[in-house]
Amino acid sequence: MAVSPTLQLTKSEFKQMQELVYRHAGIAIGNEKVAMLSNRLRKRLKSLGMESYAEYYDLLKSCSPSDEEFSHFLSTVSTNETYFFRNERLWDYVGTDLIKHICQAAQGQSPKRVAIWSAACSTGAEAYTLAIVLKSKLPKFSEWRVQIIGTDISEKVLNIAREGIYEDHAMHEVGPQDRRRYFRHDPKTNKYQLKEDLRKMVEFGFHNLRDAFKQNHFEVVFLRNVMMYFDREMKERVLANVFSALRAGGLMITGDVDPLRDGSDLKDKSGLEYVCSNTYRKPIKESKTAALVHG
Ligand SMILES: C[S@@+](CC[C@H](N)C(=O)[O-])C[C@H]1O[C@@H](n2cnc3c(N)ncnc32)[C@H](O)[C@@H]1O
Repeated sequence: MAVSPTLQLTKSEFKQMQELVYRHAGIAIGNEKVAMLSNRLRKRLKSLGMESYAEYYDLLKSCSPSDEEFSHFLSTVSTNETYFFRNERLWDYVGTDLIKHICQAAQGQSPKRVAIWSAACSTGAEAYTLAIVLKSKLPKFSEWRVQIIGTDISEKVLNIAREGIYEDHAMHEVGPQDRRRYFRHDPKTNKYQLKEDLRKMVEFGFHNLRDAFKQNHFEVVFLRNVMMYFDREMKERVLANVFSALRAGGLMITGDVDPLRDGSDLKDKSGLEYVCSNTYRKPIKESKTAALVHG
């Protein structure tokens, strides 16, 4: 028997799913999202040939967070929306002021090095946009050792990122000249694959933002369009993890829905200093508040 097209999560099933998502990803699903979650999960039930949400919940409980089905589940409850050069103004800033910051930070080094983390990278468009900008704007690029790491909680999106193959939607901010310069177009599928030299600049891996990251030498961390899914406790935790991953003087770049703006005391707690729109810095000398955050 197939799943009924009108099946809805019961109150207790919804609560179970809410708790599962929160426990694993820190994503807080609002109570008003029952219909949305029911509809999205029903599609998954259909592809798996299951008849009830309870059956699916049992399957999820037996999965580890890095299992493929768990990735499907998380992709169902969060959004993976991303595209190249998302927020034009930001990429102008990256190509000018951020490049200056990176060059200054690497002064005196031989070879010059920079490490950047695209946290919650989805299918990789942000990390690859960064690769394109660094390659075209860093003076004497061949003399640099550039490390770009993209991480996400969904293996499904990470696999797409590793292939670097995109449909039109991800490309809508990329002009014809840049499409030719940086991508190969397959006329049969109408998809675009990023050229290999750029793909090689980025390494992708699984990471849950609620956990500390294994590296702590990043000059820049991109943390865009993900914090809005988290509650206050998770936001604090994520910011503490980003703080630890940055080197002193390093920058965190937020998205348009900037969690630290608008009078929130999250910024003070995070220990980060405001630099300019969507940009925060880890002070050279850690403040007392930051020390408190880290316990
Ligand atoms: C809207 S996308 C943002 C992509 C990209 N940063 C951008 O701005 O274009 C949000 C991503 O956050 C990921 N995500 C959600 N919760 C996460 C968590 N706890 N840890 C790591 N990634 C998470 C989702 O899987 C999704 O790919």
